This record gives sequence, C-alpha cells and structure tokens, in this order.
Amino acid sequence: MEPKESLQDLFDREDEVRKLREGLSRERLILVLGLRRIGKSSLVLATLSSTGQPFVYVDVRRAYDDVSRRVPAERLYEELRSSLLRLSARERVLEALRRMEVSLEYPVKVRVPAEEVRDSIAKAFDALNELGRVAVVLDEAQYLRYSTVGLRPLLAHVYDRLRNVTLIMTGSEVGLLHDFIGIDDPSSPLYGRYGLTIELRPFDEERSRQFLMRGFEELEVKVNEGVIGRAVEELDGIVGWLVYFGRLYLEKGADAIDEVKEMGARLVKRELEEALSRSPYYAHIMRAVATLGRARWRNVVDYVTAQLGRRVTNATIARDLRNLVKMGFIEKVNDEYRVADPIVRYAVLKGL
Ligand SMILES: Nc1ncnc2c1ncn2[C@@H]1O[C@H](COP(=O)(O)OP(=O)(O)O)[C@@H](O)[C@H]1O
Ligand SMILES: [Mg+2]
Repeated sequence: MEPKESLQDLFDREDEVRKLREGLSRERLILVLGLRRIGKSSLVLATLSSTGQPFVYVDVRRAYDDVSRRVPAERLYEELRSSLLRLSARERVLEALRRMEVSLEYPVKVRVPAEEVRDSIAKAFDALNELGRVAVVLDEAQYLRYSTVGLRPLLAHVYDRLRNVTLIMTGSEVGLLHDFIGIDDPSSPLYGRYGLTIELRPFDEERSRQFLMRGFEELEVKVNEGVIGRAVEELDGIVGWLVYFGRLYLEKGADAIDEVKEMGARLVKRELEEALSRSPYYAHIMRAVATLGRARWRNVVDYVTAQLGRRVTNATIARDLRNLVKMGFIEKVNDEYRVADPIVRYAVLKGL
C-alpha cells in the first residue's frame, strides 16, 4: 500500500490539508496521528509536494531492526542520507555538509561509533537549516524510542535553534509517540514543545460510500449497492482497507470482502506478533476485547483470568491494557474498550 503523493489523489481530508499547510509556515513541530492505514503518510507527502517547499522524508520504521529490536543510529542516518540525496536542493546541502566535514558520498561504515553518527545527523539538520524553510518528516516516529542513541536532546536542539526547520512526526502508536516526546514529562527535552496536532479519523459511512462509488465510477465498474454497503460496514472507514477492497473487487467481485479480511488479517498478523510478544498478557487481553466486542474493565479481567486459569494482578492487566491503548490496537470510548481496527479484530478472533 503506497502512500499518495499528490493532492489530486487524496479523497476528502481538505481540513487536514489546510491545517497542515498553515502549520508548515508557522509551527516547529507538527504531529500527525491516527491508526495504521488511515492516511497519515499520504496526507503529509501530498501536502508537502503541493507546497513546492523542500522536504526530507524519513520512514523511521524502515530503520527498525526486528532482530535486535532497536533503531541503530547508522540505519537512521542511512535513511536520512538517502533522502537528502533526493532533495532538489541537494547540491547546497552537500556543500554545507562539506564545510562541516561530513561526507554523504558513501554509506556510513557499521564500525563508526554511535555518537559520531549522531553528530552527523545533527550536522545534516544544520545543513538543511541553511536552505531556508524546510520540513523534515519523521514517519512513524514512535520508533525513535528504540534508537541506539538518545535523539530527544538533538531534536530539542533542532526545535530551539534551527528556525527554518519544521519537524513533522507521524505516529500510529499515538501513546508511544507521546511518551517519546514526553508530553506529560517535564524532564523530557522535548516537553512542552509541540505546537500543532492533526488527528486523522476514519471516514464516516457516507464518506466511505462516496469514496468507493467514486473509485468504481472512475474505473467504469458497476458494483452492487449491497456489496458496497457491506464493505462500508465491515471496514469501518479505514481508507487503506477501502482501497484494498476496491482493488480486490476488480479481481474477485463480491468475494472481495472476505478476501480483504483474509489478506488484511495476514498483513496485520505480522504487526501484531511483533508488538504482542512484548508481554505475555497482550494476546489474552486482545482476545478478551475482540471476543467481547465492547468490554468494560471488569469484563477484561474476568475473561483473562478465565483464559489463563489463574489470577493475574489487576495492576498487571491495567498496565498492559493501557499499553495496548497506547499502541493504538485498543481504543477506550467512555468506559468501554474495543479493538480499534475491524481487521485487527478479525485477525485476533481467527487466532494469532
Ligand atoms: N485521502 C485518501 N484518499 C485516497 N486514498 C488514500 C487516502 N489516504 C490514504 N490513502 C491510501 O490508503 C492507504 C494507506 O495510506 P497511508 O498514507 O499509507 O496510511 P498511514 O500512513 O496512516 O499508514 C494507501 O494505499 C494510500 O494510497
Ligand atoms: Mg504511513
């Protein structure tokens, strides 16, 4: 699922685009938050392309190493470096970096000490700042918490000193991104520093329907109302799943709904396994909430206890449930918990 890179290709989201454009000329740190596949990368990339302003895009997830479960500084630098080399104003950045005695010619050798890599990252930001207004996108920035070098002081420096740089951080794991920034933690170097938050919500039913109808119209494909109705109902306005459904419909017709659930479940399974392996209770809690549909705290505790055949302390379940909310897998509405994404729920019910 590739993000959209042009405003013409974005359906809806006019308000968010406007907010982001305004923020770009004013703010130093912008957060773009929402579920996986809700359209964060698309919003950011399409809006930035439309401004003509230079920007650098780093997908932090790509720098994540799932064996060591870390973001090695040199991998992060490598992502930054290749993005700098794609800049249209590349020559000026390279020139500035040469003055600072940083070379972008070759990938960093693995043996370079992490501190030195961090220094190169800092200099890359300094060089970018010399370009005039520039945006640096850190996509899925919650992964920065796994960095092998501390980045918060560096980013705080960017925020405080590099007046031309706007940082845009996106995050699917909203609570974890908030933790990384330290919005509740006065001792964090980034505390109190973010200006604008844009939260992407799922499309409502009407929007979802319009989105599908318009897509099929463009392709001149006739689709039964009932099929669209079911897709709208089952996919809960998450644009990535709607796109996926549309594509599968062309191959499979009405079976596309079942197919999008199967294929989607396979896709999220990998994401879930990675995340859920961090605590022995995550999978049980997910199963409890998925099975119950909407669950109160008590129901979750009872369900998990029954499944395990023994008691787990309330504090443990409370902590893990809170973490699952932070990771965006579960959402809390009033006093009830539910699985945020219908495909994730389906994957959990089918068995992890
Ligand atoms: N506003 C939109 N209109 C049409 N398609 C979209 C829109 N937003 C996202 N998409 C599509 O949905 C999928 C997920 O979008 P993406 O931007 O990658 O989500 P996220 O970054 O939140 O995970 C991609 O295939 C993308 O092309
Ligand atoms: Mg994305």
